[in-house]
Amino acid sequence: MVLVSGSGTNLQALLDASADEAFGARVVAVGADRDGIEGLSRAERSGVPTFVQKVGDHATRDQWDEALAARIADFKPDLVVSAGFMKILGSRVLGSFPVVNTHPALLPAFQGAHAVREALAYGVRLTGCTVHLVDAGVDTGPVIAQEAVAVQDGDDEDSLHERIKTVERRLLVEIVGRMARDGWTVSGRTVRLGRPTRRS
Ligand code: GRF
Repeated sequence: MVLVSGSGTNLQALLDASADEAFGARVVAVGADRDGIEGLSRAERSGVPTFVQKVGDHATRDQWDEALAARIADFKPDLVVSAGFMKILGSRVLGSFPVVNTHPALLPAFQGAHAVREALAYGVRLTGCTVHLVDAGVDTGPVIAQEAVAVQDGDDEDSLHERIKTVERRLLVEIVGRMARDGWTVSGRTVRLGRPTRRS
C-alpha cells in the first residue's frame, strides 16, 4: 500500500509497474493525510481504494498514528511505501508494517522536507535520491538504494527536483519490485535484497 500527500507521480509509477503481473506487487490501497490531491485521484482512476487520515482530526499525534495503523491494517499490506507522504510516521504504524520511503537527496545529506532546496543552497554538484527503510527518525532509516543526479548550472528547485524525480520513480519501482519478489534482510544498518543464503 502507498501513502501520499501530493501529486503522486511515484505512486503512478508503482501503479503502472503493477499492471504487469511479473512485477510481483500490486497497490492494495492508497492513504493520504489530506483531501483533494492528485495522488488520490490517480488511485481512484486505477480503481484502487483510498482513505484519508488527517492529523488535525485527532486530539493527539498518537491517536492519529493509531487510526492510520488501523486503516492500513484493513488492507493487510506486506509493505507500506511512503511516496511523497509529508508526515512523520508514529510508532504504531512503524511497529506494525515494514515501511520504505523515497527521499530526493543522497542521505544522510539533506534530511527533511526541503532536501532539494537545501542541496541547491549548499551548492553541491551532485545530489540524487535514496530509497530507505523508515525508522523513528526523520530520513534516518537504513539505506536500500541510492542514485546520483548532477546539479546543472542554472538549475532551480523545480528543474532539479523534476530531474531527481525521473530517477526516483525508476529506482522506487525497481526496489519495491525486488522487495516483493525476493524479500529482504536487515542487519544493523545494512539492507540486503534477496533471500538469505544458508550456510552449510
Ligand atoms: C518526491 O520527490 C519525494 O521524494 C518527495 O516528494 C516528492 C513526491 O513526488 N518527498 P510525487 O508526489 O510522487 O510526484
